[in-house]
Amino acid sequence: MAAAEYEAAIMKSPPKTFHVKSFGCQMNVYDGDRMAETLAEQGMTATDDASAADLVVLNTCHIRERATEKVYSDIGRIRKHALRDHGADPMIAVAGCVAQAEGAEIVRRAKVDVVVGPQAYHNLPALVARAARGEAALDTDMPVDLKFGHLPARRRVPPSAFLTVQEGCDKFCTYCVVPYTRGAEVSRGWTQIVDEAKALVEAGAKEITLLGQNVNAWGDDGKGLHDLIAALADLPALHRIRYTTSHPNDMTQGLIEAHRDIPKLMPFLHLPVQAGSDRILSRMNRSHTRASYLRLIERVRAVRPDIAVSGDFIVGFPGESEADFAETLSLLDTVRHAQAFSFKYSPRPGTPAATMADQVAPEVMDERLQRLQAALGRDQAAFNAASVGTRCTVLMERKGKLPGQLIGKSPWLQSVHVVDDEHHGAEIGDLVEVEIAAAWPNSVTGVMVKQDGGADETVQRAKLDVAA
Ligand code: SAH
Ligand code: SF4
Ligand code: F3S
Repeated sequence: MAAAEYEAAIMKSPPKTFHVKSFGCQMNVYDGDRMAETLAEQGMTATDDASAADLVVLNTCHIRERATEKVYSDIGRIRKHALRDHGADPMIAVAGCVAQAEGAEIVRRAKVDVVVGPQAYHNLPALVARAARGEAALDTDMPVDLKFGHLPARRRVPPSAFLTVQEGCDKFCTYCVVPYTRGAEVSRGWTQIVDEAKALVEAGAKEITLLGQNVNAWGDDGKGLHDLIAALADLPALHRIRYTTSHPNDMTQGLIEAHRDIPKLMPFLHLPVQAGSDRILSRMNRSHTRASYLRLIERVRAVRPDIAVSGDFIVGFPGESEADFAETLSLLDTVRHAQAFSFKYSPRPGTPAATMADQVAPEVMDERLQRLQAALGRDQAAFNAASVGTRCTVLMERKGKLPGQLIGKSPWLQSVHVVDDEHHGAEIGDLVEVEIAAAWPNSVTGVMVKQDGGADETVQRAKLDVAA
C-alpha cells in the first residue's frame, strides 16, 4: 500500500517495551514467541502488562467471525487502558491471519500502525521503525524463502515446546480461510528442523510438539513425518514427541506404524473429522468419507490400542439436516473421543460455503452444539475415568492453584493435577511417575509415586498390557 493511503500516519517514538498477545491456533503461539524473540534481539524489553507497553503486537486469528471481531474490540480496549493508566497511545501492530486477510482495511478501520502477515513477521522490526517515522508499515507478502531462515536463536524454552515444521494448506475445505491466510503447503527443511529441535532440547525442552496446519503432509526429499519423528527420537534428552494438526488424507502407513515403533511418540492423535455425514463431508470438500475416516481410526488402534483420539467438529454447516447431524452423533459413539473441539459454523468472506444456499438458523446451531458438546463431554469424562488406578508419567508444566500443586500432561494429553503428599519435591520440567487417583470432566488428579518418571515407554507399555 502506498504511504499516501494512510490518512493520518502519526510519528511515535521508537518503542522500548513490547507486549505480544496471540490468539487462535498453536502455530500462532509459536509465531508469537518468535516475534517476541525478534523484538528482544533488537534490544526491546518484553512486558506482561499490555497497557504499559510502547508496542502491542496482536497476533490474530481469522478462523471464525468472532475471532476476527475480537481484534477490533481489543484494539479499542488497549488504547483506552493505555491512555487511562499511562496517558499514552501505544504503537499497535496487527499480525497473523486477520492481518493477512484484511490488510490495509485494518488501517482504515482501526488506524493501527503496523500490519504484518504470518509469513512476513521477520520484517517486524523494520516495519516498527518505519511506523515510528510516520511511514506506511504494511507487509503481507508470502515470500518463497520462508521467514524461519531470518529468525533469531531461541532464548527461553518451556518444558513442552512447539516447533513449526509445515505451514499452509492446499486442501481448500469450503468453510475455511486458512489456505488464503497461510498460503500453500510448504515444508521446512530437514536440517533446519533437526537443528531447531536440538537447540530446544539444549535449552531444556523435554517434549516437542511438531506443528503444521497439515503437519502430516510434511515432506523433504522423499522423507515423511514419521522419518522426522524417528530422527528426533534419537535425541537422548528429548523424552516426548507429539504432532498436530493432521489431515485424514495424509495419514500414511509409516506414520501409523510410528505409533507402534517409536516409544517417544505419545499415544495421542488429533485427527479432525468435522462431520459424520458423507453428504456434508462432500459439501465441505473434506476428501474423506465417514467410512474411510473410521477405517483409519481402526488401523491406528490396531497398532496402538490405547491411543487417545481427538478431533474438531463443525455443526450447522450449510445444508446440514437433523439426519446429517445424527450421523455426527453416531460417529462419536464409534470413535469415543478422549477430547475434542467443536464449533458452530461461521460463514467466512471469500469461502465457497459462505454463499451456499440452506444456511442453518443460529438457534438450530446452538441446540446442535449443545447436544454435541454433551456427547463429547460424556466421552471425555469416560476416558478420564478409565485411567483411575493406572500409573503414568507426567511432564510437569506449571504451578497449580493449591500450595505445592503442579500441573502437567499425561502421555494421553490429559491435564494432571499432581499432589505430592510425600514431598518428593517435583519441579516444573520434571518427568514424574504418578498414580491417577480421581477423574474430572477436563482433568485428572494424580498422586506422585516417584520423582523419576523414567522412560514414558515402560509406563505406557504397562498400561497397554493392562488394556490388552
Ligand atoms: N488444519 C486443521 C485445522 C484448521 S482450523 C484441520 O484441517 O484439521 C481448526 C478448526 O476450526 C477446524 O478443524 C474446524 O473444525 C474449525 N473451523 C474452520 N473454519 C471454520 C468455520 N468457518 N466455522 C467454524 N469452524 C471452523
Ligand atoms: Fe482448513 Fe481444511 Fe486446510 Fe484444515 S484442511 S486448514 S480445515 S482448509
Ligand atoms: Fe486462526 Fe490462522 Fe491459526 S486463522 S486457527 S491463527 S492458521
